[in-house]
Amino acid sequence: MSDRLTGKRAFVTAAAAGIGRASAIAFAREGAEVFATDIDEAGLASLADHGIARTARLDVRDTEAVEAIGRDVGTVDILLNAAGFVHHGTVLECSDSDWDFSFDLNVKSMHRTIRTFLPAMLEAGRGSIINISSAAGVYKAAPNRYVYGATKAAVAALTRAVAADFITRGIRCNAICPGTIETPSMLGRAAAAGPQGREMFVSRQPMGRLGTAEEIAALAVYLASDESAFTTGVAHIIDGGWTL
Ligand SMILES: NC(=O)c1ccc[n+]([C@@H]2O[C@H](COP(=O)([O-])OP(=O)(O)OC[C@H]3O[C@@H](n4cnc5c(N)ncnc54)[C@H](O)[C@@H]3O)[C@@H](O)[C@H]2O)c1
Repeated sequence: MSDRLTGKRAFVTAAAAGIGRASAIAFAREGAEVFATDIDEAGLASLADHGIARTARLDVRDTEAVEAIGRDVGTVDILLNAAGFVHHGTVLECSDSDWDFSFDLNVKSMHRTIRTFLPAMLEAGRGSIINISSAAGVYKAAPNRYVYGATKAAVAALTRAVAADFITRGIRCNAICPGTIETPSMLGRAAAAGPQGREMFVSRQPMGRLGTAEEIAALAVYLASDESAFTTGVAHIIDGGWTL
């Protein structure tokens, strides 16, 4: 264990798998007290092996549930919003309900958690909010990522707005824009693309490999810690050179 986050309390959404999970584990390893949430309770239970005792089922699409857990948890120093869904398709494959679902899960979820946790951060005079956006939508357009890209651009804009509004009050808000990261849902998308799916995703990476959730978590630790005290409102790209 190191101590880059010692004395800090962190709240993480979508912490049962992928980037949220790796970030929750990295936060705990760096000394933070971590509250890990997800809709996957079995995935959450396995976090106990990584020093994370406080877990709870939370559907970030449920405003009342977000507010209730906020009252339970109280003041946090770090809020990491990781929940997100990748819709596959162009504008022509995106129904109104696909659009609404994507914006609800990918964007409004962050609106809910920030509205819930920000007031106590303001009272404490400190807080680091980290929103998982994506290279797709912010730094480049990827094929068949129409509404996904739109949601992730909205996350970057929401991040800048929160950063600007509360910059004088000790609050920082940053986004992380990963490229192609090996996570359960990413591997599912690769499998759905056919037997060559994974290779296809790797082939668009100039480094010849996918990123790992732990590499994204390392950036999340930096943004959560006081080492990044002079950084706010930025969409941090971490994509293995995909956009070069
Ligand atoms: N994997 C990538 O290549 C990649 C690239 C760029 C951005 N991202 C973003 O990173 C974030 C995490 O993606 P990932 O690929 O690491 O993990 P993932 O997509 O596999 O999902 C992680 C977790 O989200 C949880 N989840 C789903 N719906 C939820 C809900 N309504 N409420 C609470 N939790 C819910 C799932 O149970 C799962 O444990 C997403 O916002 C995604 O868009 C991922």
